[in-house]
Amino acid sequence: MLGPVILAASRSDKMRRFVSAAPGTKQVVDRFIAGETVDQVIPIVKDAAAKGLEVTLDVVGEDITTVEQSHAARDAYLELIGRLKELGLGERAEMSVKLSMFGQALEGGHELALANVRPVVEAAAAIGTTVTLDAEDHTTLDSMFAIHEELRKDFPQTGCVIQAYLFRTEDDARRLAAAGSRVRIVKGAYKEPASVAHQDKAEIDKAFVRIVRILMAGEGYPMIGSHDPRLIAITQELARQAGRKLDEYEFQMLYGIRSEEHVRLAAEGHRMRVYTAYGTDWYGYFMRRLAEKPANLLFFARSILTK
Ligand code: FDA
Repeated sequence: MLGPVILAASRSDKMRRFVSAAPGTKQVVDRFIAGETVDQVIPIVKDAAAKGLEVTLDVVGEDITTVEQSHAARDAYLELIGRLKELGLGERAEMSVKLSMFGQALEGGHELALANVRPVVEAAAAIGTTVTLDAEDHTTLDSMFAIHEELRKDFPQTGCVIQAYLFRTEDDARRLAAAGSRVRIVKGAYKEPASVAHQDKAEIDKAFVRIVRILMAGEGYPMIGSHDPRLIAITQELARQAGRKLDEYEFQMLYGIRSEEHVRLAAEGHRMRVYTAYGTDWYGYFMRRLAEKPANLLFFARSILTK
């Protein structure tokens, strides 16, 4: 019940101002956001590498309103890639991007987002790594998939995300499960209407399993983005049935969530990539993490009230 309310609040400017200014917010935000600057996130990449983990780095900030901000988003990723290059960390870290941050929702946004993301994908490829396009709300996905297809002509390793809660996703998975593709499957984190998405948790889980089965049977590289122990166990079994070796798919989890599980799966020989978000414009990302687990909201409320 609380999840949809929090997701609605994630679109409200009034709530954004309230939450951002509330005493105690920072303490809770720090659990999910790895830092505000490149300098703060680099030690986290090194620490992950020392634990046998890989990362995908996300510069937060989806709610942009001007073309200048979309250019600033591109430049923030280029700065990050430049630092990874200097430090020789390129092969350890991938990038995740939200096309909304690259201007997708502005006028002429499809072309603008493509023009902004291309140099990022190019720079990532030059240091031996790649970029995955995150999936946002369902109205943005045709544009995201078209940009993904366009980028893959020159950079076939570019990944994309599909969301199990959407009815369309099994078809998308079949289309994408081709040789050379990199596809992250997640449950889905946005507030979607019943006309396009399953609303029931059990139905979403069942769809997730059907989609993992499609990806494992295909020729691409499945990336399983979930903290759900049951789905992780089922994935391991489906991978085994499909005859996949441990380096022919990977698990991904979010920074700050079930961290002991990151290390456990890596120690079992799995490739484990931690989605590590950083930056100052953390509001939308943070609110989706609150919506996923009501206990987070209680913790957040308590930290505000006790400050
Ligand atoms: P579920 O929500 O059932 O959680 C399983 C267990 O994990 C919980 O019981 C709890 O222990 C723990 N957990 C999960 N979320 C938590 C939280 N916020 N705080 C504390 N504990 C938590 N979505 C999207 O729409 N587009 C995208 O591009 C991405 N990208 C993405 C990348 C990666 C690497 C991950 C792991 C997830 C995403 N997501 C996403 C988010 C995804 O859609 C989904 O909302 C979350 O992963 C939560 O779903 P779970 O599969 O973890 O299961």
